[in-house]
Amino acid sequence: MSTFERMKIGIRSVNRDDLDTFVNLYKISYQGLEDYAYTRNRDIKHYFRWLMSRDKDGFFIAEIEMPVGFVACDTNWISFFDDTRVGEIHELFVHPEWRGRGIGKELLTTAIEYAKSKNRFLIELWVGETNELAKRFYQKNGFVEKGSWGKWIRMIKKV
Ligand SMILES: CC(C)(COP(=O)(O)OP(=O)(O)OC[C@H]1O[C@@H](n2cnc3c(N)ncnc32)[C@H](O)[C@@H]1OP(=O)(O)O)[C@@H](O)C(=O)NCCC(=O)NCCS
Repeated sequence: MSTFERMKIGIRSVNRDDLDTFVNLYKISYQGLEDYAYTRNRDIKHYFRWLMSRDKDGFFIAEIEMPVGFVACDTNWISFFDDTRVGEIHELFVHPEWRGRGIGKELLTTAIEYAKSKNRFLIELWVGETNELAKRFYQKNGFVEKGSWGKWIRMIKKV
């Protein structure tokens, strides 16, 4: 058994004290993907507060002794495309050194289960058109491309 397999991922709801952790992890996770992300601390802090205000119960952090990733699922969102309430995944990222070990999938599953608990059976998200790693990740997890807006690709999954 590898060291990683013995380490347990903990996923819990985010609280206001996680602000600085979010800012640090966000910046590391989006290195090389700045076309699709905020870069200034002030904007990332504002974004964190916006995510909390949208649906704080759908905002989760993954920890393996240290924080390794976040997901934010908004069940109050109305899709521009379908004019219906969806589980909107505004955010999902994992620290680069912890990728490829199933943490992203765990976070995504947590978000989807949360959406289902709120009777949202369509999951929607927007991914950068050249963000191949994330697009592949979502496809493997059952999402399909359904529309685009500027440099963003819309992906959905019925659950
Ligand atoms: C998309 C993202 C959240 C996935 O997180 P993750 O923890 O790597 O996800 P998982 O480990 O569950 O799945 C990654 C897949 O890539 C494979 N992979 C292998 N090595 C990898 C590596 N070094 N880095 C990334 N993926 C790797 C995994 O094996 C897995 O495929 P599988 O399901 O066939 O096993 C992560 O790449 C990320 O944070 N990207 C930057 C931020 C971003 O683009 N977010 C999405 C915005 S819409």
